[in-house]
Amino acid sequence: MAANKLAILISLALLSSLAAFHCHALQVGYYRDTCPNAETLVRAHIKKALRSDPGNGAGLIRMLFHDCFVNGCDASVLLDPTQTNPRPEKLGAPNNPSLRGYEAIDAAKSALELACPGVVSCADVVAFAARDASYLLSHGRVSFLVPAGRLDGRVSRENDTQFLPGPSSNLTTLVGSFAAMGMSVEDLVVLSGAHSIGRSHCSSFVQDRLNASSSSSPAPAADMSAPLASFLRRRCPASVPVAGVKDPTVAQDVVTRDVLDNQFYRNVLARRVLFASDAALLEEVDAGRMVRANARFPASWERKFARAMVKMAAIGVKGPQGDGRGEVRRNCRLVN
Ligand code: HEM
Ligand SMILES: *[C@@H]1O[C@H](CO)[C@@H](O)[C@H](O)[C@H]1NC(C)=O
Ligand SMILES: *[C@@H]1O[C@H](CO)[C@@H](O)[C@H](O)[C@H]1NC(C)=O
Ligand SMILES: *[C@@H]1O[C@H](CO)[C@@H](O)[C@H](O)[C@H]1NC(C)=O
Repeated sequence: MAANKLAILISLALLSSLAAFHCHALQVGYYRDTCPNAETLVRAHIKKALRSDPGNGAGLIRMLFHDCFVNGCDASVLLDPTQTNPRPEKLGAPNNPSLRGYEAIDAAKSALELACPGVVSCADVVAFAARDASYLLSHGRVSFLVPAGRLDGRVSRENDTQFLPGPSSNLTTLVGSFAAMGMSVEDLVVLSGAHSIGRSHCSSFVQDRLNASSSSSPAPAADMSAPLASFLRRRCPASVPVAGVKDPTVAQDVVTRDVLDNQFYRNVLARRVLFASDAALLEEVDAGRMVRANARFPASWERKFARAMVKMAAIGVKGPQGDGRGEVRRNCRLVN
């Protein structure tokens, strides 16, 4: 009987910890009654931001990843440094200075505060914005509904950004960091397809991919094509960039740079990707098989990408059930 009781207790504990993590159910059309134009307003502002620079779209898709993998999808990545919290996530190496798109979020949020003050969370704006950027940069091919009802977090620590996988990671590390968020190997492979848009700073890959530390006879990583290596050497400084010194950027995908498509997988197979973490997807047979399938079947990848974005956008969300863990921020850069 004691054992029985224990088993029940354990399963209850498991259930409630699962509930705390996945917790509260998000809903499509969450703002239908409280702010009917919410998603239309966000889309209009994201469209505008992309017209001025498609790179904002890449930034916004990456922003969802960096928000959700650090303390859940709660807009903690948006908080500015303050006297009481001088080192928020925003200052962490994975975000600073490379993450972009913050102004597009601010513009959308300002419009929302005019239309329906205090109703739409910044975390939902980040998720809507990533969805809209995916739609626009794929020319309508990646299209999906985003369940909403997230609350904004009040905690943001620079140190927590160390849990984001880095570009030197091997497949074991990548799979581990995704698994810690409840994301599968397939999610990892499918979402890595986002590296078909946007840019990278040279500092993110020169050291381990171009072997710039040996100035004498620099050899590229064995898994990088020679033409890409020589192109990157011309564009990137010969030595590891020092803070404050110019750190140029290059396109992630030189073939279709501003289009969210399955070109990334073709690039992986042709050894034309920037990061060790991209090339690492061929380290094991399972992931390698997924890379080849995504390279061959674009429509199937588009559907999977949409599904994986929705899944990522539900990581560790904070609900409105009065658990004291969240709020609807008035200004996405500051807690209320
Ligand atoms: C799997 C592990 C991942 C690693 C190690 C990684 C690493 C990186 C790095 C180092 C950059 C370049 C930043 C810079 O120097 O400017 C980058 C850019 C980017 N990443 Fe990832 N990433 C990963 C997964 C993802 C995921 C899951 C997404 C979204 C679904 C994503 C979307 C992007 C986008 C769109 C860019 C371009 C950003 C821009 O142009 O501003 N990445 N990533
Ligand atoms: C953050 O991490 C660094 C090194 O890992 C440590 O020295 C520092 O004390 C940490 N800061 C906080 C606020 O935890
Ligand atoms: C992957 O990287 C981790 C961390 O750097 C390392 O401990 C591990 O041995 C590596 N695994 C493989 C299979 O290379
Ligand atoms: C870097 O290049 C030097 C000289 O070509 C070589 O001996 C060394 O093994 C390379 N290091 C890496 C990590 O590839």
